[in-house]
Amino acid sequence: MQKMPPPTDLKPYFLVLEDIDQEYGGKLDWPVFFGNDHEVELDVGCGRGLFLFRASETRPGTNFLGMEIDYREGRRSARRLQKQERQNARVLGGDANVALDRMIEPHSVSAIHVYFPDPWWKKRHRRRRIFTDEFVGRCARLLKPGGYLHSWTDVEEYFGVISGIMDHHELFTKEEPPAEVLPEHDMDYQTSFERKKRKDGWEIFRGLWQRKAL
Ligand SMILES: C[S@@+](CC[C@H](N)C(=O)[O-])C[C@H]1O[C@@H](n2cnc3c(N)ncnc32)[C@H](O)[C@@H]1O
Repeated sequence: MQKMPPPTDLKPYFLVLEDIDQEYGGKLDWPVFFGNDHEVELDVGCGRGLFLFRASETRPGTNFLGMEIDYREGRRSARRLQKQERQNARVLGGDANVALDRMIEPHSVSAIHVYFPDPWWKKRHRRRRIFTDEFVGRCARLLKPGGYLHSWTDVEEYFGVISGIMDHHELFTKEEPPAEVLPEHDMDYQTSFERKKRKDGWEIFRGLWQRKAL
């Protein structure tokens, strides 16, 4: 059966990898894409987009691109942004690794956020986890010197894997992650997953690393 193309009703808030190939020559050239030369931050696996929604509101001088392989979730994020006519945030549907590998200019991104990446609990599925040496290599290539990689999860074992790659990485330095703060309202969480996990009483493991100078 032929795959249906995704609907275009949320453009330009929700675009897929094929749109970047067809409409932008396969390149996320930030000044062209966002129409300004502000700093750009990526949210890999943005899910329902709470981080994108809030960060783009509180930091209007920064551009945000969410990346989400699940079109349904990505479209949900984009719908929130469209309702507010938010100009500094967009969602890209598709495998983030494809965009990171071939669509983004090296050292053009000031932060990469990876919140609550899927844990892929079963041992035989672990190779599907996004946070790997290769992924960190991609991040190191795209981040500007001094740029930040943020990653939070409620899965202690996965955080051990992430820290194991990051803490002594030759291209990153470990930084003090933000302390947990009491939320003031129901939107006052970094992401929807953080809200869910904290409400269920789970501990959250937070990591922050800075890209070293070239
Ligand atoms: C557990 S959810 C967390 C969503 C959001 N970051 C949050 O904290 O609420 C992980 C998300 O990563 C997305 N994801 C997993 N692998 C991906 C990939 N290779 N590219 C883009 N998104 C991916 C999943 O579809 C899912 O929406």
